[in-house]
Amino acid sequence: MSDHSLSEYLNTALEVAQIAGEVVKDAFYKDKDQKTKESYADIVTETDQAVEKLIISLLQEKYPSHKFIGEESTAEGKKVEWTDTPTWIIDPIDGTANFVHNIPQTCVCIGLSVNREIVVGVVHLPITGQTYSASRGGGAYCNKQKITVSKVKDLKKSVVITEAGNSRDSQILSTKMKNVHRVVEASHGVRMLGSAAVNMCMVASGSGEAYFEYGIHIWDIAAAGIIFTEAGGLLIDPSGRDVDLLSRQVLAACNQSIADQLIPLLTHVEFDRD
Ligand code: IPD
Ligand code: CA
Repeated sequence: MSDHSLSEYLNTALEVAQIAGEVVKDAFYKDKDQKTKESYADIVTETDQAVEKLIISLLQEKYPSHKFIGEESTAEGKKVEWTDTPTWIIDPIDGTANFVHNIPQTCVCIGLSVNREIVVGVVHLPITGQTYSASRGGGAYCNKQKITVSKVKDLKKSVVITEAGNSRDSQILSTKMKNVHRVVEASHGVRMLGSAAVNMCMVASGSGEAYFEYGIHIWDIAAAGIIFTEAGGLLIDPSGRDVDLLSRQVLAACNQSIADQLIPLLTHVEFDRD
């Protein structure tokens, strides 16, 4: 793919994320309806659904042959089919619980894959006004500022971000909390910011040294994933293997040394693949 089309795709993603962000921002300050999906902590609002439809219609108008994977279309029964065809991977609101509880760390995520490789990513936080973006080979940015990961190599001098996630299964939570315990013991501490994409963009810009999570989906990490790697980060599976965006688990570390110290502390949590 030419650099020309990459920059065109990036600009389109930026424009569409901006339009979608205005809808999220408008709704943020109003009363919100909420329904639940797989657990009472897995929330969807009318805004999530409306924004996903809006993003897809804007992109479809411009690129009629492209495919789409979206969180809310999947929740409504559409299967995740990730092929070599250019595919826009969308989370209309990542951090829906933050959105519902008026916590500003909530974002619109738009990623584009070609041949099942993410080539463009935009993570836009309409409330804080931060727009993270990247395209393959072009570096990562927050607004117009280039971003890079932390240079810290010692886990004992690191902050690690994770999430409890949306499952309320007691066994899953117990394993996750034991992971948190071991990481807290080995580091400066653990943070949970409420959005997988925000977590990855924070680490991409040098705020904290790593993020890991079991239970995320491809739309939570596709756009933020290329932002993370273009910022110089290492995006892998928490076992140390290559990342698999459909596998529901991820480790984003600022470097190999931090990854090597974290991996032995993590007990695997099993989720069905996307
Ligand atoms: C969730 C958030 C949350 C993470 C979950 C995600 P949503 O996405 O990113 O931080 O822990 O795994 O599903 O539901 O807000 O789009
Ligand atoms: Ca979402």
